[in-house]
Amino acid sequence: MSTAAKRVAAYAIVFVLAASAVLIIFARRAAHRNRVAAATIVTQQPAAASETQENSDSTAEQSSDNQTPSDTTAVQADNTSENQPDAETNSAPVAVSENPLKGRTIFVSKGCVKCHSVWGVGGKLGPDLSRAGMGRSFLQISGLLWSHSPRMVELMEQRGVPRPTFTPDEMGELVSYLYYLNYFNEPGDAVSGRALFSEKGCVMCHSVGGIAGTVASPLDKYHEYASPLFLAQGMWNQGSRMASTVRTHGMIDPALRGKDIADIAAYVRGQAFGNNSGQKLMSPGNPISGQRLFTDKGCVRCHSIFATGGKVGPDLARKDLFESATEISGAMWNHGPQMWAKMQQTGIPKPSFSANELADVISYLYFVRYTDEAGNGENGRRLFEQRGCAECHTIGQGEKIGPDLGTSKAARSSVGLTAAMWNHAPIMEKLTQAKRLPWPKFESDEMRDLVEFIKLSNTHPRERTRQ
Ligand code: HEC
Ligand code: HEC
Ligand code: HEC
Ligand code: HEC
Repeated sequence: MSTAAKRVAAYAIVFVLAASAVLIIFARRAAHRNRVAAATIVTQQPAAASETQENSDSTAEQSSDNQTPSDTTAVQADNTSENQPDAETNSAPVAVSENPLKGRTIFVSKGCVKCHSVWGVGGKLGPDLSRAGMGRSFLQISGLLWSHSPRMVELMEQRGVPRPTFTPDEMGELVSYLYYLNYFNEPGDAVSGRALFSEKGCVMCHSVGGIAGTVASPLDKYHEYASPLFLAQGMWNQGSRMASTVRTHGMIDPALRGKDIADIAAYVRGQAFGNNSGQKLMSPGNPISGQRLFTDKGCVRCHSIFATGGKVGPDLARKDLFESATEISGAMWNHGPQMWAKMQQTGIPKPSFSANELADVISYLYFVRYTDEAGNGENGRRLFEQRGCAECHTIGQGEKIGPDLGTSKAARSSVGLTAAMWNHAPIMEKLTQAKRLPWPKFESDEMRDLVEFIKLSNTHPRERTRQ
């Protein structure tokens, strides 16, 4: 286990990297004035993506009509998707946050850090949030926040922490920060890396710092990369040679799980010849170029994302598949031999990766699941009644105690809705207390279904251009 200070430092590095990657994304996006990038990152079908492109001019006009400067890019991405003819069957995109670092700022400025830690650093009243966003989509994380609201509010009152409210912008950034936290999971641990290096047999063939194997090349050159994904990239590129050498030595392919790769990389960094002062920082990956590479490298010929693409290998948007960047690279490695065999059978050349390419593909696969798939509107209608929204709101029947959500602008996007709900949770709490009802929690995909129902029923002006 590393010390708290070490963790903070490692953590800071990750976020500096994140910021730079995200800046790249946004520079690109600015270059594409029509915001197609924001919509396609959520992996619409190629056909749907080109629809978006055709409609993008009208989207741009609408945005200037209907949106105040405070609206988020996520809201804009929502609009883009709404323009697709088949909004019900496509997933509703929430853009990757402009800058996860900004989300960190909100986490601190809104007082979350007073009660919550991240990788052990921060307040201890609430649970550590490093893994709270793990494997959860935007609306699932929002649902989690909502469900814990009363307990948090109670504690905040006791401690004199004012209850924070959020603009849709801030909500989008906060939630994407929580999602992002597990990307590199815990920083690699050199001690367990050393153990893995022998257990997994690496030590039989490779040396680091002059120690052990001479069958294959020394791994010292990897010391200069802070990110474990470079090591993963080298393993992938040399994978078939390595696999056949493993076999001729009568060994079994070393399987890598969880953060094994991160641990091994930490060991290599510490053990290698050479000085570490000039470490090259690898960006954690640019999901937009990752999406392009997923096609260019031929992955899409065998793999689908949300059922779109090849069917030879498994769909890679499956929720249970992986939880962090290192797990994704581990999965690619573990399934490598079967994949390479399939590639040979089907005549698809084995792709290799250079520079930042593997990281880009991995970050694309990581962020794919941030976007919610389309919810069940019928179930949403039921939840609207059951969870008490209908006590104060109508859909298209005019104002009640609260505004008509059929025409409300806040109610037309996922971030707008979840921010508004969070902000008025105290009003709802009074209602539930007066009626002696339990707090209406949203489990698993209930928030998604509710939001789907409200968004589909919402007729805020952008509808005019739909007809
Ligand atoms: C006054 C202390 C306090 C503050 C401030 C606070 N929380 Fe919490 N939070 C808690 C407690 C306690 C729980 C556990 C509640 C429960 O079990 O119902 C919790 C639970 C959560 C959970 C669910 C975690 C899980 O794994 O189930 C999330 C997510 C969360 N808080 C996010 C936030 C965010 C984001 C902020 C800042 C806007 C925040 N909290 C501010 C005390 C706080
Ligand atoms: C049976 C021998 C063997 C074992 C065991 C083995 N490798 Fe390799 N490895 C090779 C061979 C052969 C190559 C390709 C030729 C070369 O680089 O020398 C290679 C290549 C690599 C590369 C790319 C090197 C480069 O020059 O870019 C990396 C990284 C790597 N291995 C890491 C590992 C790790 C980590 C483990 C343990 C999990 C491991 N290897 C286990 C034989 C092995
Ligand atoms: C020729 C077809 C083919 C190509 C091309 C291909 N794969 Fe695969 N992939 C497969 C098959 C088949 C499996 C399942 C292998 C197994 O069962 O072990 C798989 C498994 C995987 C897994 C593990 C999934 C799991 O369930 O854990 C990942 C991750 C993956 N591939 C990523 C990629 C990426 C990224 C690319 C592009 C660089 C790619 N694949 C290219 C056929 C392919
Ligand atoms: C106790 C009455 C009450 C309940 C129950 C209630 N709301 Fe509200 N809601 C309001 C009021 C009042 C407002 C006006 C803004 C404010 O005062 O916070 C509002 C505002 C909103 C807004 C912002 C609308 C706009 O145009 O600004 C949204 C979205 C919203 N509510 C969604 C919901 C959802 C979804 C539910 C069910 C989970 C719900 N509300 C339950 C009273 C309620």
